[in-house]
Amino acid sequence: MGKLILGIDAGNYRAKTAGPYGVDSYRTSICDWFPRNIEEDFGEDDMEFAYEGRRGYAGTLASYEDQYGGGAMYGDSKAHVDTLIRALLAIYRYTQKYCPGFTRFDIVAGQPIISHKPGEKRKLADLLRGKHTITVNGATYRYEIGEVGIAAEGSGAFMAAPRKGTYRIIDVGSGTVNCATITDNRHINTASATFNYGVETTGGRDNIDNIARAVIRSTTQLKWRQSDNVLVCGGIASDLLPLLAEHYADIAPLIPQLNAHSGAQIHLPTYANAVGFYEIARLAYG
Ligand SMILES: Nc1ncnc2c1ncn2[C@@H]1O[C@H](COP(=O)(O)OP(=O)(O)OP(=O)(O)O)[C@@H](O)[C@H]1O
Ligand SMILES: [Mg+2]
Repeated sequence: MGKLILGIDAGNYRAKTAGPYGVDSYRTSICDWFPRNIEEDFGEDDMEFAYEGRRGYAGTLASYEDQYGGGAMYGDSKAHVDTLIRALLAIYRYTQKYCPGFTRFDIVAGQPIISHKPGEKRKLADLLRGKHTITVNGATYRYEIGEVGIAAEGSGAFMAAPRKGTYRIIDVGSGTVNCATITDNRHINTASATFNYGVETTGGRDNIDNIARAVIRSTTQLKWRQSDNVLVCGGIASDLLPLLAEHYADIAPLIPQLNAHSGAQIHLPTYANAVGFYEIARLAYG
């Protein structure tokens, strides 16, 4: 069997995966293992895992337990072992769902724009690359990750729907907001940034007005103009868009188009980074 190419956006709230068969996502909370005294069935994304001596739960179940424990790492770098575990669980879910049997992968994953520096990129790529053994729900899997590319969140999403001209991309995540400027498919560093707040760190979905105001303030600091072409992606893109439209007149959701084996697929803006990363991986390793 050949290698499977995947784009993996291992977000602090949900991991989004894109590949030749379609997309997948799951809640990325991880908590330490504990004996469960109630015999429950595994939920759609609940996973019990063991990786190199670490044992725990991931998925929605873990998100409830998490509230009393360590909690998600809402940080601005993803170069830590939780990202590797999330990526391996993303691979597990994707292969189980669409294509059991694949054990070798070439992937593109993401880093916030602020951590999109050679040192941090290398650190994350080195972490992901290689042979890994993970146990999920009692079965053991061996995966080999060969090629690893690291793309910037937000600007990588643009590759899911590339077009000519200058575009501003707003990717609102759970702990970070990535704002990217792209001119003729190039990332413009001086007009792009990661802001260190997100939906979960500003009071959740119910306080969406606050986050919209903060995003407008942050992007104005970056000298974006009200007449710019703006594209919005991330998990709450559709809720946020009308609020941002009060400031940015030319605003639209970033609708990712996946070039799947079966033909083009249209997905929700939450998958924009994953689909963009897949597109980058497909062009580089396909
Ligand atoms: N399926 C969903 N149901 C309810 N809320 C959601 C869902 N997906 C995302 N959200 C909301 O949207 C927010 C952003 O989600 P998103 O998946 O973009 O974050 P992320 O990419 O995991 O985070 P980061 O980019 O900061 O690592 C979440 O914090 C959550 O409040
Ligand atoms: Mg994100």
